[in-house]
Amino acid sequence: MAKHDISNESDVRELVHTFYGKVRDNERMGYIFNDVAKVDWNTHLSIMVDFWSNLLFQTGQYKGRPFRQHIPLPIQKDDFSLWFGLFESTVDELFEGKKADYAKEMAAKIASSFALKMEMSGKFN
Ligand code: HEM
Repeated sequence: MAKHDISNESDVRELVHTFYGKVRDNERMGYIFNDVAKVDWNTHLSIMVDFWSNLLFQTGQYKGRPFRQHIPLPIQKDDFSLWFGLFESTVDELFEGKKADYAKEMAAKIASSFALKMEMSGKFN
């Protein structure tokens, strides 16, 4: 089937659920999400659908400030490339188009801004 662009909330759900499926199955990411943060997946998935819907379609559904939740986690610099690799491969498997490109661009930008803030605060030392 030909790939289409991320066009509506149902596409955002598919993206988010598929991505976090990969995150849960990944040993290192699974350790951070399940063993350390003990994420409640129903809650997390619904927050993340709101977050991405807001970024891609300005729905106003997410009003949080995501960086602070990451501060206590044992995230290291390399984890961002792992995270982004899973995100990028999910987008590329499922979608194609301007919003798909924008989602990857935003994910890369936010990941590097998180990494920079952590680096500046000495978290990676
Ligand atoms: C190494 C990379 C990352 C890891 C391991 C990670 C892990 C996590 C975990 C475990 C939580 C749940 C925290 C909690 O509820 O206690 C979380 C929340 C969240 N993450 Fe990440 N994250 C990463 C990168 C990113 C990036 C790059 C973005 C943005 C594109 C992002 C967006 C969010 C958002 C929006 C939340 C929800 C915050 C809220 O509750 O308002 N994360 N992350």
